[in-house]
Amino acid sequence: SMDLTEKAQGILRGNDRGGYTLPTKGLYPYQWNWDSAFAAWGFATFDADRGWQELETLMSGQWEDGMIPHILFHRPDPGYFPGPDVWQGRGPIPSSGISQPPVAASFMAKMLAMDPTGEARARAMWPALKRWHRWFMDWRLDRGAVCVTHPWEAGRDNAPDWDGAMRAIDADDVGEYTRRDTSHVDPAMRPTKYDYDRYLKLVQIGVSVGWDHEKLREINPFRVADPTMTFTLLRAQRDLAAMGRRFGEDVSEIEEWIAVLEDGAETLWNPEIGGYDSRDVRAGRFNGVLSNASMLCWYAGINDARALPALERMLAAAEYGLASYDPEAEGFESLRYWRGPTWPIMNYLVGSGLEEQGLDGPAARIRRDTARLMEAHGFAEYYDPHTSAPAGGGSFTWTAAVWLGWAG
Ligand code: DGY
Repeated sequence: SMDLTEKAQGILRGNDRGGYTLPTKGLYPYQWNWDSAFAAWGFATFDADRGWQELETLMSGQWEDGMIPHILFHRPDPGYFPGPDVWQGRGPIPSSGISQPPVAASFMAKMLAMDPTGEARARAMWPALKRWHRWFMDWRLDRGAVCVTHPWEAGRDNAPDWDGAMRAIDADDVGEYTRRDTSHVDPAMRPTKYDYDRYLKLVQIGVSVGWDHEKLREINPFRVADPTMTFTLLRAQRDLAAMGRRFGEDVSEIEEWIAVLEDGAETLWNPEIGGYDSRDVRAGRFNGVLSNASMLCWYAGINDARALPALERMLAAAEYGLASYDPEAEGFESLRYWRGPTWPIMNYLVGSGLEEQGLDGPAARIRRDTARLMEAHGFAEYYDPHTSAPAGGGSFTWTAAVWLGWAG
Protein backbone atom coordinates (compact mmCIF):
# COMPACT_ATOMS: atom_id res chain seq x y z
CA SER A 1 0.00 0.00 0.00
CA MET A 2 1.00 3.58 -0.64
CA ASP A 3 0.87 4.42 3.01
CA LEU A 4 3.35 1.72 4.02
CA THR A 5 5.61 2.61 1.11
CA GLU A 6 5.76 6.20 2.34
CA LYS A 7 6.48 4.98 5.84
CA ALA A 8 9.25 2.70 4.62
CA GLN A 9 10.84 5.56 2.71
CA GLY A 10 10.53 7.68 5.84
CA ILE A 11 12.43 5.08 7.85
CA LEU A 12 15.32 5.11 5.39
CA ARG A 13 15.39 8.90 5.41
CA GLY A 14 15.13 8.99 9.19
CA ASN A 15 18.04 6.56 9.65
CA ASP A 16 20.17 8.36 7.03
CA ARG A 17 23.26 9.98 8.55
CA GLY A 18 24.47 11.55 5.30
CA GLY A 19 26.12 8.92 3.11
CA TYR A 20 25.34 5.96 5.31
CA THR A 21 22.25 4.56 7.02
CA LEU A 22 21.90 3.22 10.56
CA PRO A 23 20.16 -0.16 10.91
CA THR A 24 18.07 1.54 13.61
CA LYS A 25 18.56 4.41 16.04
CA GLY A 26 19.82 3.56 19.53
CA LEU A 27 20.50 -0.17 19.22
CA TYR A 28 22.75 0.03 16.11
CA PRO A 29 24.13 3.57 15.74
CA TYR A 30 26.76 2.94 13.01
CA GLN A 31 27.06 1.58 9.48
CA TRP A 32 26.68 -2.20 9.37
CA ASN A 33 27.91 -4.00 6.28
CA TRP A 34 25.01 -6.12 5.05
CA ASP A 35 22.38 -3.80 6.52
CA SER A 36 23.94 -1.11 4.38
CA ALA A 37 23.68 -3.17 1.19
CA PHE A 38 19.96 -3.67 1.87
CA ALA A 39 19.65 0.07 2.56
CA ALA A 40 21.30 0.89 -0.78
CA TRP A 41 18.75 -1.27 -2.62
CA GLY A 42 15.88 0.25 -0.63
CA PHE A 43 17.02 3.75 -1.51
CA ALA A 44 17.43 2.70 -5.14
CA THR A 45 13.64 2.27 -5.37
CA PHE A 46 13.09 6.01 -4.90
CA ASP A 47 16.47 7.83 -4.85
CA ALA A 48 19.04 6.14 -7.10
CA ASP A 49 21.81 8.59 -6.28
CA ARG A 50 21.47 8.01 -2.54
CA GLY A 51 21.51 4.25 -3.16
CA TRP A 52 24.84 4.37 -5.00
CA GLN A 53 26.26 6.66 -2.34
CA GLU A 54 25.46 4.11 0.37
CA LEU A 55 27.59 1.45 -1.36
CA GLU A 56 30.41 3.92 -2.00
CA THR A 57 30.55 4.82 1.69
CA LEU A 58 30.65 1.12 2.60
CA MET A 59 33.54 0.52 0.16
CA SER A 60 35.46 3.45 1.64
CA GLY A 61 36.00 1.38 4.80
CA GLN A 62 37.86 -1.39 2.96
CA TRP A 63 41.07 -2.56 4.60
CA GLU A 64 44.32 -2.78 2.69
CA ASP A 65 44.03 -6.56 2.67
CA GLY A 66 40.62 -6.36 0.98
CA MET A 67 38.30 -7.00 3.91
CA ILE A 68 35.24 -4.80 4.20
CA PRO A 69 34.43 -4.70 7.92
CA HIS A 70 31.13 -5.53 9.50
CA ILE A 71 30.84 -2.17 11.30
CA LEU A 72 32.19 1.24 10.28
CA PHE A 73 32.29 3.56 13.29
CA HIS A 74 31.99 6.86 11.43
CA ARG A 75 31.16 8.94 14.51
CA PRO A 76 31.55 7.92 18.18
CA ASP A 77 28.31 6.90 19.90
CA PRO A 78 28.34 5.98 23.61
CA GLY A 79 25.05 4.08 23.18
CA TYR A 80 26.78 1.07 21.59
CA PHE A 81 29.14 -1.53 22.99
CA PRO A 82 31.69 -2.79 21.90
CA GLY A 83 32.87 0.36 20.12
CA PRO A 84 35.99 1.27 18.11
CA ASP A 85 38.28 1.38 21.17
CA VAL A 86 37.46 -2.26 21.92
CA TRP A 87 37.67 -3.51 18.34
CA GLN A 88 40.81 -1.65 17.19
CA GLY A 89 40.26 -2.39 13.53
CA ARG A 90 43.10 -1.36 11.21
CA GLY A 91 41.27 0.11 8.22
CA PRO A 92 41.00 3.68 6.91
CA ILE A 93 37.87 4.25 9.03
CA PRO A 94 37.55 3.04 12.67
CA SER A 95 35.97 -0.38 12.34
CA SER A 96 35.40 -3.84 13.70
CA GLY A 97 37.87 -6.60 12.80
CA ILE A 98 35.54 -9.10 11.10
CA SER A 99 33.37 -9.03 7.99
CA GLN A 100 29.74 -9.91 7.27
CA PRO A 101 27.73 -11.80 4.62
CA PRO A 102 28.87 -10.32 1.29
CA VAL A 103 25.58 -9.32 -0.30
CA ALA A 104 26.81 -5.95 -1.65
CA ALA A 105 27.73 -7.19 -5.16
CA SER A 106 24.33 -8.83 -5.50
CA PHE A 107 22.47 -5.67 -4.54
CA MET A 108 24.74 -3.67 -6.81
CA ALA A 109 23.67 -5.92 -9.71
CA LYS A 110 20.02 -5.31 -8.85
CA MET A 111 20.59 -1.58 -8.59
CA LEU A 112 22.33 -1.50 -11.96
CA ALA A 113 19.32 -3.18 -13.54
CA MET A 114 17.06 -0.56 -11.93
CA ASP A 115 19.30 2.38 -12.87
CA PRO A 116 21.56 1.75 -15.90
CA THR A 117 22.79 5.35 -15.66
CA GLY A 118 24.72 4.26 -12.56
CA GLU A 119 27.02 2.06 -14.63
CA ALA A 120 30.11 4.25 -14.16
CA ARG A 121 29.67 4.17 -10.39
CA ALA A 122 29.16 0.40 -10.37
CA ARG A 123 32.25 -0.04 -12.54
CA ALA A 124 34.29 2.07 -10.16
CA MET A 125 33.31 -0.18 -7.23
CA TRP A 126 33.73 -3.49 -9.05
CA PRO A 127 37.48 -3.92 -8.34
CA ALA A 128 36.95 -3.28 -4.60
CA LEU A 129 34.25 -5.93 -4.51
CA LYS A 130 36.53 -8.37 -6.28
CA ARG A 131 39.29 -7.70 -3.76
CA TRP A 132 36.81 -8.33 -0.91
CA HIS A 133 35.63 -11.57 -2.51
CA ARG A 134 39.25 -12.64 -2.92
CA TRP A 135 39.84 -11.96 0.78
CA PHE A 136 37.19 -14.54 1.66
CA MET A 137 38.77 -17.05 -0.74
CA ASP A 138 42.22 -16.44 0.78
CA TRP A 139 41.40 -16.50 4.49
CA ARG A 140 38.07 -18.06 5.20
CA LEU A 141 37.72 -21.32 3.27
CA ASP A 142 37.47 -24.84 4.62
CA ARG A 143 37.07 -27.48 1.92
CA GLY A 144 35.59 -24.73 -0.25
CA ALA A 145 32.95 -23.63 2.26
CA VAL A 146 33.23 -20.17 3.82
CA CYS A 147 33.93 -20.00 7.55
CA VAL A 148 33.05 -17.41 10.14
CA THR A 149 35.50 -16.55 12.90
CA HIS A 150 32.90 -14.91 15.14
CA PRO A 151 29.12 -15.40 15.43
CA TRP A 152 28.67 -11.72 14.50
CA GLU A 153 30.38 -12.39 11.18
CA ALA A 154 27.51 -14.59 10.01
CA GLY A 155 25.03 -11.91 11.06
CA ARG A 156 23.06 -14.68 12.82
CA ASP A 157 24.54 -13.75 16.18
CA ASN A 158 23.03 -16.27 18.60
CA ALA A 159 21.95 -19.00 16.17
CA PRO A 160 22.10 -22.53 17.64
CA ASP A 161 24.75 -23.27 14.99
CA TRP A 162 27.40 -21.76 17.24
CA ASP A 163 26.49 -23.45 20.52
CA GLY A 164 29.08 -26.22 20.29
CA ALA A 165 31.93 -23.93 19.24
CA MET A 166 30.95 -21.40 21.92
CA ARG A 167 31.12 -24.05 24.65
CA ALA A 168 34.74 -24.67 23.72
CA ILE A 169 35.67 -21.02 24.45
CA ASP A 170 36.99 -20.24 27.91
CA ALA A 171 35.80 -16.69 28.70
CA ASP A 172 36.52 -16.61 32.44
CA ASP A 173 39.10 -13.84 32.02
CA VAL A 174 37.03 -11.61 29.74
CA GLY A 175 36.78 -8.87 32.40
CA GLU A 176 34.06 -6.42 33.38
CA TYR A 177 31.98 -4.65 30.77
CA THR A 178 28.59 -2.99 30.42
CA ARG A 179 26.26 -4.11 27.67
CA ARG A 180 24.27 -1.40 25.93
CA ASP A 181 21.98 -3.50 23.74
CA THR A 182 19.81 -4.55 26.68
CA SER A 183 19.14 -0.91 27.56
CA HIS A 184 17.51 -0.48 24.12
CA VAL A 185 15.71 -3.83 23.75
CA ASP A 186 14.05 -6.36 26.09
CA PRO A 187 16.84 -8.75 27.25
CA ALA A 188 14.54 -11.70 26.51
CA MET A 189 14.90 -10.84 22.81
CA ARG A 190 18.68 -10.61 22.92
CA PRO A 191 21.65 -12.96 23.37
CA THR A 192 22.51 -14.03 26.92
CA LYS A 193 25.47 -12.94 29.09
CA TYR A 194 27.06 -16.34 28.44
CA ASP A 195 27.03 -15.50 24.72
CA TYR A 196 28.27 -11.94 25.23
CA ASP A 197 31.26 -13.09 27.32
CA ARG A 198 32.32 -15.25 24.40
CA TYR A 199 31.61 -12.60 21.75
CA LEU A 200 33.99 -10.31 23.62
CA LYS A 201 36.57 -12.99 24.23
CA LEU A 202 36.77 -13.56 20.48
CA VAL A 203 37.23 -9.83 19.91
CA GLN A 204 40.06 -9.81 22.47
CA ILE A 205 41.74 -12.73 20.69
CA GLY A 206 41.52 -10.86 17.38
CA VAL A 207 42.95 -7.69 18.90
CA SER A 208 45.80 -9.68 20.51
CA VAL A 209 47.14 -10.56 17.04
CA GLY A 210 46.24 -7.25 15.38
CA TRP A 211 43.52 -8.97 13.32
CA ASP A 212 46.16 -10.95 11.45
CA HIS A 213 43.98 -13.38 9.49
CA GLU A 214 46.75 -15.91 8.99
CA LYS A 215 47.36 -16.14 12.73
CA LEU A 216 43.66 -16.22 13.47
CA ARG A 217 43.25 -19.15 11.13
CA GLU A 218 45.62 -21.02 13.48
CA ILE A 219 44.65 -19.79 16.94
CA ASN A 220 41.02 -18.70 16.84
CA PRO A 221 38.99 -21.30 18.78
CA PHE A 222 35.93 -20.38 16.71
CA ARG A 223 35.94 -21.44 13.06
CA VAL A 224 32.64 -22.60 11.64
CA ALA A 225 31.85 -23.25 7.97
CA ASP A 226 28.55 -21.50 7.52
CA PRO A 227 25.72 -21.69 4.96
CA THR A 228 25.00 -17.94 5.28
CA MET A 229 28.50 -17.04 4.16
CA THR A 230 28.95 -19.83 1.65
CA PHE A 231 25.67 -19.19 -0.16
CA THR A 232 25.81 -15.38 -0.12
CA LEU A 233 29.39 -15.40 -1.41
CA LEU A 234 28.56 -17.95 -4.12
CA ARG A 235 25.66 -15.75 -5.25
CA ALA A 236 27.77 -12.60 -5.02
CA GLN A 237 30.53 -14.17 -7.15
CA ARG A 238 27.97 -15.02 -9.84
CA ASP A 239 26.66 -11.45 -9.81
CA LEU A 240 30.20 -10.03 -9.81
CA ALA A 241 31.11 -12.21 -12.80
CA ALA A 242 27.98 -11.16 -14.71
CA MET A 243 28.73 -7.48 -14.12
CA GLY A 244 32.39 -8.04 -15.02
CA ARG A 245 31.43 -9.52 -18.40
CA ARG A 246 29.26 -6.50 -19.08
CA PHE A 247 32.15 -4.19 -18.15
CA GLY A 248 34.61 -6.10 -20.35
CA GLU A 249 36.65 -7.45 -17.42
CA ASP A 250 38.44 -10.79 -17.33
CA VAL A 251 36.27 -12.95 -15.06
CA SER A 252 38.08 -16.29 -15.38
CA GLU A 253 39.38 -16.15 -11.81
CA ILE A 254 35.87 -15.46 -10.50
CA GLU A 255 34.62 -18.45 -12.47
CA GLU A 256 37.20 -20.59 -10.67
CA TRP A 257 36.02 -19.23 -7.33
CA ILE A 258 32.45 -20.16 -8.24
CA ALA A 259 33.47 -23.76 -8.90
CA VAL A 260 35.34 -23.92 -5.57
CA LEU A 261 32.33 -22.57 -3.68
CA GLU A 262 29.91 -24.94 -5.41
CA ASP A 263 32.03 -27.85 -4.18
CA GLY A 264 32.25 -26.20 -0.76
CA ALA A 265 28.46 -25.87 -0.52
CA GLU A 266 28.16 -29.63 -0.99
CA THR A 267 30.36 -30.17 2.09
CA LEU A 268 27.60 -28.47 4.11
CA TRP A 269 24.92 -30.94 3.06
CA ASN A 270 24.04 -33.02 6.12
CA PRO A 271 21.88 -36.03 5.20
CA GLU A 272 20.98 -36.54 8.85
CA ILE A 273 18.98 -33.31 8.99
CA GLY A 274 18.07 -33.33 5.31
CA GLY A 275 19.49 -29.88 4.86
CA TYR A 276 22.50 -27.62 4.58
CA ASP A 277 24.15 -27.37 7.97
CA SER A 278 27.04 -25.49 9.53
CA ARG A 279 30.27 -27.40 10.21
CA ASP A 280 32.41 -26.84 13.29
CA VAL A 281 35.84 -26.93 11.67
CA ARG A 282 37.76 -27.15 14.96
CA ALA A 283 35.70 -30.05 16.28
CA GLY A 284 35.35 -31.65 12.84
CA ARG A 285 31.61 -32.19 12.97
CA PHE A 286 28.25 -30.94 11.76
CA ASN A 287 26.21 -28.83 14.16
CA GLY A 288 22.91 -30.49 13.24
CA VAL A 289 21.02 -27.21 12.84
CA LEU A 290 18.28 -26.59 10.31
CA SER A 291 17.95 -22.81 9.97
CA ASN A 292 16.73 -20.21 7.50
CA ALA A 293 20.34 -20.01 6.23
CA SER A 294 20.06 -23.68 5.25
CA MET A 295 17.47 -22.51 2.71
CA LEU A 296 19.73 -20.06 0.88
CA CYS A 297 20.77 -22.71 -1.67
CA TRP A 298 18.24 -21.48 -4.26
CA TYR A 299 19.46 -17.90 -3.80
CA ALA A 300 22.97 -19.23 -4.48
CA GLY A 301 21.77 -20.74 -7.76
CA ILE A 302 21.63 -24.33 -6.50
CA ASN A 303 18.19 -25.75 -7.25
CA ASP A 304 18.37 -28.64 -4.82
CA ALA A 305 15.33 -30.92 -4.61
CA ARG A 306 16.90 -32.64 -1.59
CA ALA A 307 16.31 -29.47 0.46
CA LEU A 308 12.61 -29.05 -0.37
CA PRO A 309 11.06 -31.40 2.22
CA ALA A 310 12.80 -29.62 5.11
CA LEU A 311 11.76 -26.22 3.72
CA GLU A 312 8.15 -27.34 3.43
CA ARG A 313 8.21 -28.79 6.92
CA MET A 314 9.63 -25.58 8.41
CA LEU A 315 7.03 -23.47 6.60
CA ALA A 316 4.22 -25.75 7.76
CA ALA A 317 5.40 -25.48 11.37
CA ALA A 318 5.13 -21.66 11.48
CA GLU A 319 2.25 -19.28 10.90
CA TYR A 320 4.30 -16.42 9.43
CA GLY A 321 7.09 -17.12 7.00
CA LEU A 322 10.32 -18.95 7.50
CA ALA A 323 11.55 -19.24 11.10
CA SER A 324 15.25 -18.68 11.75
CA TYR A 325 15.44 -22.06 13.48
CA ASP A 326 13.44 -25.24 12.93
CA PRO A 327 10.25 -24.65 14.99
CA GLU A 328 10.13 -28.35 15.82
CA ALA A 329 13.67 -28.47 17.18
CA GLU A 330 14.46 -28.52 20.87
CA GLY A 331 15.59 -25.10 22.06
CA PHE A 332 13.46 -23.14 19.57
CA GLU A 333 12.62 -19.72 21.11
CA SER A 334 10.11 -17.67 19.14
CA LEU A 335 11.34 -14.25 20.30
CA ARG A 336 15.06 -14.69 20.88
CA TYR A 337 16.82 -13.14 17.93
CA TRP A 338 18.23 -15.92 15.70
CA ARG A 339 16.86 -18.86 17.71
CA GLY A 340 13.38 -18.77 16.23
CA PRO A 341 12.04 -15.39 15.03
CA THR A 342 11.28 -14.78 11.36
CA TRP A 343 13.44 -12.15 9.66
CA PRO A 344 12.21 -10.23 6.59
CA ILE A 345 15.75 -9.95 5.21
CA MET A 346 16.26 -13.70 5.23
CA ASN A 347 12.73 -14.23 3.95
CA TYR A 348 13.66 -12.00 1.03
CA LEU A 349 16.93 -13.76 0.22
CA VAL A 350 15.36 -17.21 0.46
CA GLY A 351 12.07 -16.19 -1.18
CA SER A 352 13.63 -14.38 -4.13
CA GLY A 353 15.94 -17.35 -4.66
CA LEU A 354 12.94 -19.68 -4.79
CA GLU A 355 11.22 -17.31 -7.24
CA GLU A 356 14.25 -17.33 -9.53
CA GLN A 357 14.33 -21.12 -9.51
CA GLY A 358 10.62 -21.37 -10.35
CA LEU A 359 9.47 -22.72 -6.98
CA ASP A 360 6.43 -20.48 -6.97
CA GLY A 361 4.49 -22.13 -4.14
CA PRO A 362 6.91 -21.67 -1.24
CA ALA A 363 8.15 -18.39 -2.74
CA ALA A 364 4.65 -16.87 -2.75
CA ARG A 365 3.95 -18.10 0.75
CA ILE A 366 7.13 -16.49 2.15
CA ARG A 367 6.55 -13.24 0.32
CA ARG A 368 2.93 -12.93 1.37
CA ASP A 369 3.72 -13.73 4.99
CA THR A 370 6.51 -11.18 5.03
CA ALA A 371 4.14 -8.49 3.75
CA ARG A 372 1.51 -9.48 6.34
CA LEU A 373 3.99 -8.98 9.17
CA MET A 374 4.76 -5.45 8.05
CA GLU A 375 1.13 -4.62 7.34
CA ALA A 376 0.19 -5.70 10.85
CA HIS A 377 3.09 -4.29 12.83
CA GLY A 378 5.28 -1.98 10.76
CA PHE A 379 9.01 -2.41 10.22
CA ALA A 380 10.48 -4.35 13.13
CA GLU A 381 13.88 -6.05 13.19
CA TYR A 382 12.24 -9.50 13.40
CA TYR A 383 8.90 -11.10 14.39
CA ASP A 384 7.49 -14.06 16.30
CA PRO A 385 6.75 -16.64 13.58
CA HIS A 386 3.77 -18.04 15.51
CA THR A 387 1.99 -14.86 16.62
CA SER A 388 3.51 -12.16 14.31
CA ALA A 389 4.46 -10.06 17.37
CA PRO A 390 7.17 -7.51 16.42
CA ALA A 391 10.50 -7.93 18.25
CA GLY A 392 13.98 -6.46 18.57
CA GLY A 393 14.58 -2.92 17.30
CA GLY A 394 11.82 -0.87 15.62
CA SER A 395 11.89 1.44 12.56
CA PHE A 396 14.37 -0.94 11.02
CA THR A 397 16.17 0.03 7.82
CA TRP A 398 16.57 -3.35 6.15
CA THR A 399 13.01 -4.40 6.92
CA ALA A 400 11.77 -1.20 5.27
CA ALA A 401 14.08 -1.94 2.31
CA VAL A 402 12.54 -5.40 1.90
CA TRP A 403 9.10 -3.79 1.73
CA LEU A 404 10.26 -1.30 -0.89
CA GLY A 405 12.19 -3.76 -3.02
CA TRP A 406 10.12 -6.92 -2.77
CA ALA A 407 7.32 -7.52 -0.29
CA GLY A 408 5.25 -4.35 -0.81
C1 DGY B 1 25.18 -6.52 17.86
O1 DGY B 1 25.82 -5.66 18.46
O2 DGY B 1 24.26 -7.18 18.37
C2 DGY B 1 25.45 -6.75 16.46
O3 DGY B 1 24.64 -7.71 15.91
C3 DGY B 1 26.89 -7.08 16.22
O4 DGY B 1 27.08 -7.08 14.85
